[in-house]
Order: sequence, then C-alpha cells, then structure tokens
Amino acid sequence: MMKLRYFFLTLLLVLVSSVSAQEALLPYQNPDLSIEERVSDLVSRMTLEEKIGQMTLVEKDSINPDILREYFIGAVVSGGGDYPTGNNTVEGWAAMVQGYQDAALATRLAIPMLYGVDAVHGHSNLLGSVVFPHNIGLGAAANPGLVEEIGRITAREMIATGIYWNYAPVLAVPQDIRWGRTYEGYSENTDLVTELATAALIGLQGDDIAAADTVLGTPKHFVADGGTAFGTSPVDNGLLDRGDTLVDEATLRAVHLAPYYDAIENGARSIMISFSSWQGERLHGHEYLIQDVLRGELGFTGFIVSDWAGVDNVASDYYASVVQSINAGIDMNMVPSDYMRFITAMNQAVSSGDITLERIDEAVANILRVKFELGLFERPYGDETYQASVGSEAHRAVARDAVSQSLVLLKNEQNALPFDADATQTVLVTGSGADNIGMQAGGWTIEWQGVGADGLVGTTVLSALEDAFGENTTLRYSPRGRFSADADGNPAHGDIGIVVAGEQPYAEWFGDTDDLALSNQDRALIAAMREQVDTLVVILLSGRPLVIDTELNLADAVVAAWLPGSEGAGITDVLFGERDFVGRLSFTWLRSMDQLPYDFSALPTEGCDAPLFPFGYGLSYASPDEGAFWLALAAECAP
Ligand code: BGC
Ligand code: BGC
Repeated sequence: MMKLRYFFLTLLLVLVSSVSAQEALLPYQNPDLSIEERVSDLVSRMTLEEKIGQMTLVEKDSINPDILREYFIGAVVSGGGDYPTGNNTVEGWAAMVQGYQDAALATRLAIPMLYGVDAVHGHSNLLGSVVFPHNIGLGAAANPGLVEEIGRITAREMIATGIYWNYAPVLAVPQDIRWGRTYEGYSENTDLVTELATAALIGLQGDDIAAADTVLGTPKHFVADGGTAFGTSPVDNGLLDRGDTLVDEATLRAVHLAPYYDAIENGARSIMISFSSWQGERLHGHEYLIQDVLRGELGFTGFIVSDWAGVDNVASDYYASVVQSINAGIDMNMVPSDYMRFITAMNQAVSSGDITLERIDEAVANILRVKFELGLFERPYGDETYQASVGSEAHRAVARDAVSQSLVLLKNEQNALPFDADATQTVLVTGSGADNIGMQAGGWTIEWQGVGADGLVGTTVLSALEDAFGENTTLRYSPRGRFSADADGNPAHGDIGIVVAGEQPYAEWFGDTDDLALSNQDRALIAAMREQVDTLVVILLSGRPLVIDTELNLADAVVAAWLPGSEGAGITDVLFGERDFVGRLSFTWLRSMDQLPYDFSALPTEGCDAPLFPFGYGLSYASPDEGAFWLALAAECAP
C-alpha cells in the first residue's frame, strides 16, 4: 500500500513537472513556433549587452569559454591555421568547439554560438581531412555535380568537429591572375563561377539547412573582390589584394554581382563582405551596395558578416569605422581579436545615437533568424558519428576523381602520354613538386599560407607514380635532378623524364606578383632534363597560369594540375590512360607578362599578341590534334 502510494505520488510529480517544463518553454525555445515568432520573442528578451555580444565574432584564441559567457559572444572563428594548439585532430577540434558551445548554452538565454571556419577545399585546417583541389581546378573540371558532392563531404567533415558554418564558397571572378587569390576563384568567367559556386553552396547546405548533415555556407567576398586594379592594394607588399575595383557600375553588375543572384535564390543565408573597395570606397562601409543592392534589389534576408578586421579602416578612426559599417548593414563583425574595443565602440555609438537601437535589433534578428533556420537551438553540437568518415577512403575517392577531372592537357606530342605501365623503361622524376604534398595543396591548408613537403596526409605525385609504373620500370627520383652516372660513367639517361614544377604555397596578398615566370630552378631543371631523356613530361602545380612559353616548346607533354590537394593518384589515373583528360581552361593562359591585364573584350586570337591558350582550351586522348593551331603559334612566338 505504501509502495503504491509512493508510486502514484511520483507519477503525479513527474506529470506536474513535465507540464511546468512545457510551460517554462519560452516562445523562442519552442520549435513549433514560426522562426519569425521565435526571433522577435528572443530579441525582446535581450539586453543591449547581449545584443552587442551577438554581433561580435571573435577569433578562438582571443577568447576562452569564460569570456564568451561573460560577454555573450555570439560567434567564434578559426582563421587559416587556427587549429586547436597541439591537438590538430578531429577529437581536438570537437572538444574545443564544444567548450565554446557549452559556455554559450550556460548563458542566461542559452543562445547557441556559431563557429565558423574556412573549409574552402575540404575541412582543410584539420590534419587528416580530405583536401580537395582548390577552386581553380574545379573550374577546369566544370562539373557542378562533382562540386556539389565535394560540398556535401566537406559539410560532413565539419560537422564531425562540431562546426556548422563555412566561409565558402568564393564567388570572386578573378580578372587578373597576378592576384594571389586567383586559385580561390573557379574562373575568370562569370557564368562558370555562378554555376559552380551555386553547386558548392547547395552541396554544403542541401535543400534545407536545418537538416542534420548540412552546414551554413557563406558566399564571399561581396562584391568584386576579383576585380581590383593592379597596384591598388592597401597592404604592405600587396599589389591587387584588398585593392580597388575601378570598373563602372554596369561592369560591376555584369561581371561580379551576377553570381550573388543565383546564390541567394539557392539559399544563401550569410554573406561575407569584401576587403576591397569600389571606386575608392570600401565595401565594408558601402551603404549603397549593401543596403540598396544586396538587401534591396537582391532581397537578401540572411545576415551579413564582415571579413577579418574588415570594419576597422573604413573611416578615419575605429569608432567612426564601426558606426559607418554597422549602419551600412554589417550585422556581425569578425573583430577578430580586440572584442572589448568593438563592444566599447558599440556602446558608445548607442549612447550617442550614432547607431540606433532599431538597427541593432535588426542586425541581431538577422543573425538569430539564421541560427534558428540552421536548427542550432535544437542541435547545437556536432555529430560524432561522422568522425570516422573524416579523411576516409570514400571521401578520398571523390577527391581523387576530382583531381582527374581537373587536369588540363596543354600539349601531348610524340605519344608522350599516356604512359605505358608495363614497358621496360627508365623513368627519371624530378622537380620541387614531385614529392611535395604541401605544394599540391597550396594555401589555406593546415596553415593559412599552406605547409611544406610533409605537412598533411595524402599521396604525392611521386608516390602515385611509383604505384602506377609496373615492375619493368626503373624509376629514379632526385628532387634537384642530380641523377648519378651509370657504371660506365655515362650520364644518366631516361626513356621518360617527368618534371613536377610550379608555385610554392601562398594565400591572399602573399601571392600577389608581377612575375608569373617559373622559378629559375624549375626552368633549369626542365632544360637539363630535356638533354637527359627521350620523352619529357612537365606537370605544373600552380594556383594560376604561369609563363611557360620556353618550357612548353621543350616538353613533349605538359599538364596543368593546378592545386590538386591530397590525392595525387588522381593525376596518375589520367597519365596512364585509365581515363581521359576532361579539364578545360577556366582561365585564359598568358604568353607573357606584358599581356596582363587582359582586355577580355578585345583579346587577340592570332599572332603573338594572342594568349598562349584561350579560355576553354584543353586536349584529350580522344582528340589529339585539337591543339595544333595554338601549339604551332607557341613555337613560332617562342622567345
Ligand atoms: C588573415 C586571415 C587568416 C589569419 C591567420 C589574417 O591576417 O586575414 O585570413 O586566417 O591572418 O592568422
Ligand atoms: C579572408 C577570408 C576568410 C577570413 C577568415 C580573411 O583574411 O579574406 O576569406 O574567410 O580571413 O579566415
């Protein structure tokens, strides 16, 4: 009897407490209400301090979970190379991100924080992730289905570490390959950028960003980051990066704005503003382009995030910069370090009336709307079940396929390609890129500026070649082409020579240059190898077309492999003829530096003023003679 009474009492208590738990569910916490109802309820409960915190995006090492909780910081960023110190593993990332999320959920209103990262070619700050080709290679592959799949895989590898926000895709339409960010763009052609960037966004976001296996994408950098004029960079040692786009409005719209229409139509919910200026005015303070065009004309209703300290210099001093950029429409400021300076400036701006409370409510609502849409309130943490898939065979297989599709065959004579795996032959392999996974991957890989030869997990060109050549091949490798003489003292001789040459990794303005020539070392290697081998094949690893007019004529075959990432076997799959070349140039290939910048409206199509190869050029095994005209011209115009 006692027992039964106890049972009923307990039951009653459980019922009462679950009813009151439901009553205690505030409107913004109730997933059954509409997002707009939840947003306005939540905003109405927030203090000014909480609102300003929500607009503040801080670099992860510049705060800790306690600071996040104290200032109600709404979002955290890992910049390039900003992995968990000493523990760059899936578990290390997951624990770090969870620490910030725990703190956010421990605040009065328990608003989840949003963690963002540059997963621009895979979750590429994470050691062991699959690293896909940079966008320039995907532009050559021109396969939206492939790009979408890459987005989906990237999303999963991110969610494994608790991260739901990607600062990608890049919608830049680079007009001048001297720009260090050229490789982050798919193409110099607006339509191709639009098609592929939209596919990337759909891959990341799916058709519902609330789904458990999708993340929020961020088209960037609004707008005309790829249009800056040479010599206008405000950065020390920069030439184009963050510079000034001087084109008229019609060109700005046709070339650079166009991809944003499709991105927004296809679900873009956060957009990052460009460091660059348009006709002398910084985008971060550009009310016309942000409010009238992006919000008004394009109807964007997500939130607008600044770039890294992009707000700081739009006006004469920091305070004026904050006022101008927030009033111009920036909702969230990627501070990134000195959050107190931003919070103080915001408070001052509110008390002086320079920024209205209405504007702050609007910015906060824009941010919260997307957090609700993402399902972050219901599912603030990552999903450990994806951890086993990070860098998995299945993910690497897609990257390998992407590498194969991205290769552009520039020249193939004397039946240089495909290689015969079974022939009895000597192959000499050399070049700075032959056994250099860091060079394959380029910038934005583990570190902001990329890493050295052994800096990440993957397959180099050399190891892929070693796997692919059969047992009758004697393969010799010397990074600097120092092949020892044979027993009789004759200089080394190869039936085939393979030189893997190209650019060392760089990011942003570190890659700005007015000299796109191959390095002297690469040039000397190619010339020396020509003397030592019957068939010479050059593979280029680069973030853009390089000046190769001499080397093109020396080599029997030349392949542009761009920045293929971690899966070098994607190159050998095509070199050995298991599949054909399908890549086509998504950037015009220069003959010499004096052709830059191109006037795309009047590009010569014949004579030595014509580019070395036009947009869309690319040979295949199936149609070996397609390059005849351009290769003959290259020989004729050779220096
Ligand atoms: C760059 C960021 C980068 C960071 C790395 C900054 O100067 O603008 O993109 O992530 O440095 O520390
Ligand atoms: C870059 C952005 C990047 C941000 C965060 C900036 O320097 O311009 O593309 O998303 O850093 O790393």
